[in-house]
Amino acid sequence: MSRSRAAIILAAGHGTRMKSSLSKVLHPVGGRPMLDWTIALARGLGCEKIVVVVGAHNPDARARAEALLGPGTTALQDPPLGTAHAVRAAQAALAGFSGDAIVLYADTPLIGAATADHVFTTLAEGYAVSVLGFEAEDPGAYGRLIETPEGDLAAIVEAKEASPEQLTVRLCNSGVLAAPAPLLFELLAEVKNDNAKGEYYLTDVVALARARGHKAKAVPAQEAEVLGVNSRVELAVAEARFQAARRHQAMLEGVTLIAPETVHFSHDTQLAADVVVEPHVVFGPKVVVETGAVIRAFSHLEDCIIRRGALIGPYARIRPGSDIGENAHIGNFVETKKAKIGAGAKANHLTYLGDVTVGAKTNIGAGTVTCNYDGFDKYHTEIGANAFIGSDTMLVAPVSVGEGAMTGSGSVITKDVPAGALAVERSEQRNLDGWATKFRARKAAAKAAKASPPSGD
Ligand code: UD1
Ligand code: MG
Repeated sequence: MSRSRAAIILAAGHGTRMKSSLSKVLHPVGGRPMLDWTIALARGLGCEKIVVVVGAHNPDARARAEALLGPGTTALQDPPLGTAHAVRAAQAALAGFSGDAIVLYADTPLIGAATADHVFTTLAEGYAVSVLGFEAEDPGAYGRLIETPEGDLAAIVEAKEASPEQLTVRLCNSGVLAAPAPLLFELLAEVKNDNAKGEYYLTDVVALARARGHKAKAVPAQEAEVLGVNSRVELAVAEARFQAARRHQAMLEGVTLIAPETVHFSHDTQLAADVVVEPHVVFGPKVVVETGAVIRAFSHLEDCIIRRGALIGPYARIRPGSDIGENAHIGNFVETKKAKIGAGAKANHLTYLGDVTVGAKTNIGAGTVTCNYDGFDKYHTEIGANAFIGSDTMLVAPVSVGEGAMTGSGSVITKDVPAGALAVERSEQRNLDGWATKFRARKAAAKAAKASPPSGD
């Protein structure tokens, strides 16, 4: 890349149609705030400077941007007077920057890196301004891209100022635009607000550049990529598009999705080739699944690693900090949290494993619970390799069970169990001979007497 790059990300809109106390740009798609998506795009494009333009009404967006980019990376636009005015707000933060600048939108999370890169590379082809356009299904209120007979971009006309003939144009403005930063700010200084909305339109820079003898160009995008989110309905549309693309990508990478439309991904889900995912699985953030693992139906995973060949579910809940070892089995209604499960270990039924290390090949019986919390603090349970935890064992942490040790079913284990030992903690069983038979006979007689009371009363 020969020319240095900067991004100006607009995030100053009010987002009133979201009807939310959270800034619109912080609503997530694929589990990641839309603002983060746009910042990631700018970084992926190699932008050495990124400025986020925020409004006075969205301090949460400002805080998020500075958390990701560092202090001094936001610019305040107050009050908002239009898109040109918003971009100008970033001028001071870009003082001295002489490379190319792209204008991006924090409510437009699906633009592909290759598409945005094309907006920059078009500048290197001798164009002073390049604009990302798309063929709109319904051009509606979008700005129209008016091209010259040679295929250059002549002007962008907002729908409110367009002639009936211009309104028939289906090539629309996505809003994304790039130009050399010094020229962009010179042109912006010339933009006026004598238009239908009384706003400073960023789109005017195209005609202003042409008036100076420069050339401009429209760069094509798919309409789905440039979808802007203004309401929860559009947020759901963006989410659905993200999910569809992510599932498609996973399958192309060698993952079997039996019912892809029922599997929910996060932006950072990593599934290796030859992973099989059954229907209705949710991947929360930070999930890594290694090759050969099978995630069975109705499982929910979050911030965990599932190692080679492991079998998860059906109906498993794998919570943050879980590391499920190679070929381990975590079965139905088993919940793990901060659990390091050794290779080949099994917890197949109805179990809670939290703050625990389980050694290789250990078997955890049905109904086992690591009692890790006393209402104030969390405590660790350590279980060695090749151990056998009997069904319905309560492991009251902190506690350890040594290698090869066993616990008897129903035991409440409060003391460490040495390697190779059996720990049993339950009262002696008594058998009362004939008691059940006599009990039944007594009850049956009482019931019969009630059903046929003596007559004459
Ligand atoms: C804008 C474009 C239009 C394009 C459409 C694509 C202009 C004049 N028009 O129109 O050609 O087809 O987007 O969606 O640019 N914003 C600020 N500060 C402001 C005004 C806007 O940060 O003062 C931000 C908004 O939060 C929003 C974006 O800029 O994310 C676009 O603003 P909006 O008012 O929605 O512009 P449109 O009228 O839709
Ligand atoms: Mg808009």
